[in-house]
Amino acid sequence: MNLKKEMNYARLLMNKTEVGQRVYQNHDKMMYIGGDNMRGLFQELDVNKEKSLVVCGSGDPGLEVAYQDFSQITCFDINLFARHMLHVKLAAIKALNYQEFCELFQTSLTKEWLDKISPYLPDATFLFFDNLFQLNSSKLPNLFTHNYSKHALYFFRKCQQNFSVYNEQEFSKLKSCLQTKKFQFLPLDIFQKEKVNSCLEKYDFIYLSNILFFASMPVADFMKNIFPIFYQSLRDDGVLVVNYFHSYMDELKEKRTFKNRLYQERNSLLYEQIKRYCNQEIILPASGFGHGTGGKDFVLAVKK
Ligand SMILES: C[S@@+](CC[C@H](N)C(=O)[O-])C[C@H]1O[C@@H](n2cnc3c(N)ncnc32)[C@H](O)[C@@H]1O
Repeated sequence: MNLKKEMNYARLLMNKTEVGQRVYQNHDKMMYIGGDNMRGLFQELDVNKEKSLVVCGSGDPGLEVAYQDFSQITCFDINLFARHMLHVKLAAIKALNYQEFCELFQTSLTKEWLDKISPYLPDATFLFFDNLFQLNSSKLPNLFTHNYSKHALYFFRKCQQNFSVYNEQEFSKLKSCLQTKKFQFLPLDIFQKEKVNSCLEKYDFIYLSNILFFASMPVADFMKNIFPIFYQSLRDDGVLVVNYFHSYMDELKEKRTFKNRLYQERNSLLYEQIKRYCNQEIILPASGFGHGTGGKDFVLAVKK
């Protein structure tokens, strides 16, 4: 990827201050911290742990599967900048101790942090951020979403629940085994049928997170054109996480938000159609919480 082109996109994004749930682009803001409770999910799953395909996002999903003993980890994303976030996370684990790692992800990336982790960064990622710091370091935080530094402690406890790497012992384990892991970034829009068809291999675990929630593609089209490709890409006994529902349930059940209702409608459509397609039980592990306060998340997944 051409650095100059990336810088142009990044410059535009840094000047856009609004964040929010919308359709994702192939050059977009990067998630600084992940939101799903993958750590809790793995306590519910019985799956072979060799080859995985997970959304890249903040890089945290890839780190979680690495921690969970998968050896081959392909992180896909429509957003090409997501690979920089993954590289920053991997370099930070290698270069920093646990306290420093926590400090970096409870604050924001600075030039000092960048230099400290630079020996472990690919050139493209180092140059990308280094040039941005030279251009306008005060606006660089605008390039990130899900940076919880304003409420660091509160959210960091959630991060610790959701992803192993934010816990001290787990961080050490990951640090010591990272060399043995094979990470790969795959640029992919999961709604582009031809591309999905041509680039998938066979996996023990596929994780689409909550991408479907943002999709403009109707559920029926997804089920007809996309779902079968992912399902066929599972190895025997493999698990495909089709959707992740944040804060599906409020603490007070009767107080449903608009978001919860949307989740519910999509969920029931998906649930029915997946059941018809797979003719099998669907795993729906309740899985702690992600973003929601007092809410309960759950996961829609199928096993081959
Ligand atoms: C849906 S969330 C998943 C994040 C993940 N749960 C985490 O904890 O880091 C956001 C990520 O999904 C990616 N994404 C959104 N739509 C996509 C699509 N159609 N194909 C591939 N990736 C997509 C976004 O670019 C973003 O990085």
